[in-house]
Amino acid sequence: MNVVVVDTYKEIGEKAADIFVAQLLMKPNSILGLATGSTPLSLYEALIQRYKDGKIDFSQVTSFNLDEYVGLAPDHEQSYRYFMEKNLFEHINIDKNKTYVPDGLVKDADAFGKAYDQQIKDMGYIDLQILGIGANGHIGFNEPDKIFTYATHKVDLAETTIKANSRFFDSIDDVPKQAISMGIGTIMKSKKIILMATGEAKAQAIRDAIYTDPAPEHPASILQFHQNVTVIVDKEAASLL
Ligand code: PGA
Repeated sequence: MNVVVVDTYKEIGEKAADIFVAQLLMKPNSILGLATGSTPLSLYEALIQRYKDGKIDFSQVTSFNLDEYVGLAPDHEQSYRYFMEKNLFEHINIDKNKTYVPDGLVKDADAFGKAYDQQIKDMGYIDLQILGIGANGHIGFNEPDKIFTYATHKVDLAETTIKANSRFFDSIDDVPKQAISMGIGTIMKSKKIILMATGEAKAQAIRDAIYTDPAPEHPASILQFHQNVTVIVDKEAASLL
């Protein structure tokens, strides 16, 4: 794992954006794996600025998002489809028809997961995947568990995740209890991965991701087996390294 420690949250986004620019120069029709949450916002802001400055072109890109809440329609303000539209897609020249976010309203999650994974496989897998990390070590919504789940699947959110994400909802009771998440196997098939984290609350999770023996109780620790991971963190998130 290549670990990059920077001073500020903004710099995390700038460093990650450098990698995106290089990726799209090398392969303009890259398959991008995108994430939601507070952490990738600095990346998306940097990407929008670079697009405005003519430094990056998304016209040939296809994207797949990591996850979506079960029960939220795409136009729900807390859905991850909505998040992506507002925070990235509306501001760049990506073809909306080539942006995929799991469907939170799907009836048969297993069939949906299989089709999502198959589509990613048929496209040759994700070229560059961005990941945040939960304070509990989750990537996507792959929560600490007894096993690593390979495929895209429906998950029960951990209590700590529901609590953490309640900051975006009127009340904790409004937070969906389940999500559809890309599985660990699909994430691990990505050719390059960027793991981003900011703040002291993520320090233990980052330490576990990098140093603990890989185990499903610390989902991000699986990344130690991946050949091309760049961890970009600020000093606070790196404070236990
Ligand atoms: P955050 O979420 O970026 O909002 O902290 C990250 C995650 O839970 O994966």
